[in-house]
Amino acid sequence: MESAEASILLDELTRVTGREDPYSRYRQLREISPLVRADDGALVVTRHADCVAVTRDPRLGHMPPHMLEFVSPNWENHPALRHLFTSILTINPPDHTRLRRLVSSSFTARRVQALQPRITEMVDDLLDRMTGDVDFVEAFAFPLPVNVIGELLGIPEPDRAQFQGLVRDWTLVLETMTSDVLKIADPAAATIREYLAGLTAERRRKPADDMISALVAAEEDGEKLSEDELLTMAALLFAAGFETTTNLLANSVVALLRNPDQLALLRDDPGLAPSAVEELLRYDTPVQLLARVAWDDIELAGVPVSGGERIVAYLGAGNRDPERFPDPDHLDLTRQDNAPLSFGGGIHYCLGAPLARLEAQIALPALVNRFPKLDFAGDPGRRDSLAIRGYTTLPVSVS
Ligand code: HEM
Repeated sequence: MESAEASILLDELTRVTGREDPYSRYRQLREISPLVRADDGALVVTRHADCVAVTRDPRLGHMPPHMLEFVSPNWENHPALRHLFTSILTINPPDHTRLRRLVSSSFTARRVQALQPRITEMVDDLLDRMTGDVDFVEAFAFPLPVNVIGELLGIPEPDRAQFQGLVRDWTLVLETMTSDVLKIADPAAATIREYLAGLTAERRRKPADDMISALVAAEEDGEKLSEDELLTMAALLFAAGFETTTNLLANSVVALLRNPDQLALLRDDPGLAPSAVEELLRYDTPVQLLARVAWDDIELAGVPVSGGERIVAYLGAGNRDPERFPDPDHLDLTRQDNAPLSFGGGIHYCLGAPLARLEAQIALPALVNRFPKLDFAGDPGRRDSLAIRGYTTLPVSVS
């Protein structure tokens, strides 16, 4: 299980060159062993079947507070960690079950489907404004999802743009929790919370037809969200609602421009959008990994794992496992049976998956149809992170 070679590969994934091409490193890791131990002690799985097992096995979950204290001492006094570790993303049943039920009742499929005409309008409006050379992230990949989730939650339009930097700074803690990172992430998380506290207070006084008001009113079996839970939920929904989808759109454009035959397929047949989006999610997912802890002694990848061990599933690697996807490094928008691991699985399965899919299914065909000469206009600037994979800038020319 331990291997010097695996250690080098994992270390490369923390560096710029490794992040430029994680997929060849994942392949080598998978070939060395399906389960390798990272230098920080966590066990890493890279096979599709093992990633699925990590997300679905009820004997795996998130760290209870006493373990968190051991890994991230004093976490409750750091806004960035407090927001993360008390959110549904990282809590366990029964609290997770209760909060998930409460938020699901406000975030319904009907509410998402009803957004279709509005998303189409926003896409057309953003495309109308793009001429010459533009930064695709700034001109489209960020404004579309931030305005969609902003409208859904009820965040006033002029306030939305400031959250791009704030959320990027907060989510640095998904990568590493060093004191240097916390110096940036804590004030960002505190600002987000303060803003949402003000907005929630307004909605309590005067409810509107938006999700913050729905969350204020949400009640199941006599249970309501506490003020603290509500703010954490709103912050997570807002952040997850645009950060990941921004990266999906930018990663997809890069993948399509590097595979012009596939771009042409989508341009010729917009009906390909649903399968194209699944394939693009598989090919270069914005969320590359997720973490769990074993609550019990289990067997994973055929190896005994003791209770208390930390486990990281590399979803990006599982998405390229040849045992599951033939010729996995080939982008094939017509691929059948291409359900990606990108939204996770089990009880934490992404709550926003239908929304992310809908946005990409509307945006990508519209983009490639509007601009027949869409091309790179410079080198993309990669976000310095592996957990969340994407670009900070993506210069493209549209005419
Ligand atoms: C391409 C876009 C997206 C990707 C790749 C993605 C990926 C993921 C993944 C992998 C998880 C599970 C994490 C884990 O099990 O540890 C997750 C959970 C979650 N996602 Fe997404 N997401 C996307 C878009 C969205 C959007 C648009 C929203 C909200 C509007 C959202 C809200 C959430 C929430 C609330 C959870 C936590 C669910 C729970 O723990 O029960 N996501 N997402």
